[in-house]
Amino acid sequence: MIDIHCHILPNVPGDDGSPDMEETVKLFELAQADGIDTIICTPHGKQPAGDQIKRMDDIRAATEAKAAEYGIRLLRGLEYNLPQLFQVDETAVGLAKTNFILIDFVRSRMDSSVDAISRSTHSAGFHPICAHPERLFQSWEHVHHIYNTGYTMQLTAASILGDFGRGCQKFSLDLLDHGLCHYVASDAHSTSRAFRQTACRKFITEQYGEETANILFEENPKRLLANQMPLEIPVVSDDYDEDLPKNPFLRAMYRFFTGHRRDEDED
Ligand SMILES: [Fe+2]
Repeated sequence: MIDIHCHILPNVPGDDGSPDMEETVKLFELAQADGIDTIICTPHGKQPAGDQIKRMDDIRAATEAKAAEYGIRLLRGLEYNLPQLFQVDETAVGLAKTNFILIDFVRSRMDSSVDAISRSTHSAGFHPICAHPERLFQSWEHVHHIYNTGYTMQLTAASILGDFGRGCQKFSLDLLDHGLCHYVASDAHSTSRAFRQTACRKFITEQYGEETANILFEENPKRLLANQMPLEIPVVSDDYDEDLPKNPFLRAMYRFFTGHRRDEDED
């Protein structure tokens, strides 16, 4: 499998991922055990980030041989942090040398950032991927707006599995129900926050079917490496419904009592 978002490089300035090579090697072991053979290294970064990018490239080059011992290929990437003033130009670091860039928003500045960054990114020839929207936004409608401005969505496997709490899991499933997910990545930072791709793929296969799992875990990562836009997953929710409550608890109750739930429908 290909992991498109991971903080596995050791001791990158400005990043909060692996602190040293010892931890990185443990993460290689865990990645291999999880069936991952390609990792796009995405330490946190700002734009412009010339010195940091040089340092990051040097660290990755010095780490590649060790990764290869575990059958893992390391590719270049960056997770751009907002809300720093962000003007994307042709020097931006695309994921694996493609025209896709990964962007992490900060909640308090999101509204003013989203449209401006989308315009800037597209005019520079890049496609923005929103990192883990399930941990940033409040409603699938909000994420749908972001999607309509040209972003695709990368959800985190641990969020889908409930590792960040039931609320985050519930919202992740809302996004999947509405087709607002194009990639699932680890966003692994350490051995205590590592890889959940295999478990998540199994979960999505059971809940959403083989086609959706295949798009998220095979097709779209491969398409990204080929610099192609991702496929859309099947939309399973029919709750574009004026009567649907906005409150997540009431919405769940509504679904329960109106037989709105996909998993019950399938059983
Ligand atoms: Fe990240």
